[in-house]
Amino acid sequence: MRLGIIGAGAVAVLHAEGAAIIDGIELSAVCDLKADIAAKVADPWGAAVYTDYRQMLDDDVVDAVVINTPHSLHKEMVLAAAAHGVHVLVEKPMATTVADCVAMEEACAAAHVVMVVGLIQHFMAEKLALRAVLASGKLGAVLLVHDYRSTDYRPGTRAGWFFDKAISGGGAFINIGAHCLDRSIWIGGAQAVRVTAATLNRFGAKVETDGSMEVLLANGVQVRITIVSDTPRNVDEMLVVCENGTVIVDPRSGTFVEIDGKHTQVHASTGDDIQNAFTAQLQDFAAAVAGAAPTVDGAHAKHVVEVVLAAYESAESGHPVQLGGSRAGDVSLQGAL
Ligand SMILES: NC(=O)c1ccc[n+]([C@@H]2O[C@H](COP(=O)([O-])OP(=O)(O)OC[C@H]3O[C@@H](n4cnc5c(N)ncnc54)[C@H](O)[C@@H]3O)[C@@H](O)[C@H]2O)c1
Repeated sequence: MRLGIIGAGAVAVLHAEGAAIIDGIELSAVCDLKADIAAKVADPWGAAVYTDYRQMLDDDVVDAVVINTPHSLHKEMVLAAAAHGVHVLVEKPMATTVADCVAMEEACAAAHVVMVVGLIQHFMAEKLALRAVLASGKLGAVLLVHDYRSTDYRPGTRAGWFFDKAISGGGAFINIGAHCLDRSIWIGGAQAVRVTAATLNRFGAKVETDGSMEVLLANGVQVRITIVSDTPRNVDEMLVVCENGTVIVDPRSGTFVEIDGKHTQVHASTGDDIQNAFTAQLQDFAAAVAGAAPTVDGAHAKHVVEVVLAAYESAESGHPVQLGGSRAGDVSLQGAL
């Protein structure tokens, strides 16, 4: 599979390294508006450099692309790839509106190309260890998920487009909250039915820099998410409260289980975990192109966008927002839940 990358930002090197590790995938082209940025990702692997993604698609040098660009551009890039018969792994968030998500799904289905969304949490070793311990049944049902992540939304700390709602779709919620909602809904085991949220705009930023969400899932699981900018130390922690015990999950340290006063560590994080997750995600994409069902289904990725938008609506109105809601997750884990 000849792979292209569109947008050579933060995680492009992790996608490129993954392509180099996997047999059967060759990084053939990297496109960025800035040629020097594209070249940094392309050159180690001898890939072609483009500054116009439409040219890259017209030149027939890729069978699949990773779309790793500002959020509101995802739609036009997915539609262009589909029109060229090119399969797509589009970074999170899938898009900035549900209508865009639907248009992307419809275009890919009509063109018979695969689209997967880069929800990397599903490939992180510490989250997979959490899933394994939940599936073992010894913790009983999940009752509550508390998810706390720090970030940095002080203007100047990241590219300017992140602060332009028309391009980014919003601030800390749509960017970092997309990860928190993805993993909390996945681990909680059902879609969201009610969202209550509040946001803060600090540092003079034009998008929210911090906020909290209370999300009720269709199976009664309560989710609490807090995202805060510029904290004294970086935090990325899920606390999962179950009938018979609790689990703490942190990509920097690992996965820790407590049952009746007894403490065990079921995963110790390593410096390779992040690259391994990106490689596994790309492998999963290649398998989907070959006909397998992808690990993360499109309905879940679209639901994450729907819940982010509901959180914005709640923060603006000051009221809870109701959503449709149905059971999510895979059959094997649901037995344990
Ligand atoms: N999976 C993760 O953990 C993770 C981490 C970081 C970012 N992301 C996602 O990756 C995407 C990109 O974020 P980022 O942090 O890399 O942003 P970034 O601003 O650092 O990089 C985006 C790149 O896209 C390029 N670009 C913009 N318009 C383009 C166009 N029309 N054609 C080609 N290139 C274009 C820019 O020049 C820039 O180099 C976003 O969807 C973001 O949410 C995911």
